[in-house]
Amino acid sequence: MKKALTIALAAALASGTMMAQAYQQGDWVLRVGATTVDPDTDSDDINLPQGVVAQADVDDDTQLGIIPMYMVTDKFGVELLAATPFEHDISADVRGSSLSVDAGSTKQLPPTLVVQWYPRGGEDGWQPYIGIGLNYTLFFDEDVDNELVDTLGALTDGVVQNADLDLDDSFGLAAQAGIDIPFSDRWAFNIGVWYIDIDTEAEITAKAAGGAQVAKVKFDVDIDPWVYNIGIAYKF
Ligand code: NI
Repeated sequence: MKKALTIALAAALASGTMMAQAYQQGDWVLRVGATTVDPDTDSDDINLPQGVVAQADVDDDTQLGIIPMYMVTDKFGVELLAATPFEHDISADVRGSSLSVDAGSTKQLPPTLVVQWYPRGGEDGWQPYIGIGLNYTLFFDEDVDNELVDTLGALTDGVVQNADLDLDDSFGLAAQAGIDIPFSDRWAFNIGVWYIDIDTEAEITAKAAGGAQVAKVKFDVDIDPWVYNIGIAYKF
């Protein structure tokens, strides 16, 4: 009995010392963490009534990232970035002034499929990786803020009473780097960074009382965010 306990303890200590088992072909790794989408926005001019020109700016948001990865070989994996829906505030910064109008908000899901290279695949210990892949960003629940409606109303002598915002979905490239730092044979800390090309066409439809369309403005917005995940990884 005493001997069995000693062996069990020795085995536990040994696995702790060895840290993580190597990532190998056929392994699944699930990364979960706080995922932040931090836009680096570049907007076309938004031509509002009376020659007022604004540009859109998009705020950051943090959600729960759920990020499975499958090792196709000892050195290459395929990873999917999934998350609970992000919600971003959008402002319209008026050119030639410090005026910034709360324009609205949008939700989005940015599933990103990346092929990853693990230079230390097949070896125990730290697992750095780089990846390249594709992103599809789905925008939904776009909302217009009352401040934008009021601003449009003021610029049109009260004609505009309402507005709609619509954002086109985006399809683009993604690049990535990250690392898993093991603290047991199956658990690791994870830090991952993506740069994602997300470009959308936005459309604001201004409406009069009763819903008749007064004007429609279209403009391109490059959101091109840095995305960060900080969390843990578990190897199955
Ligand atoms: Ni872009």
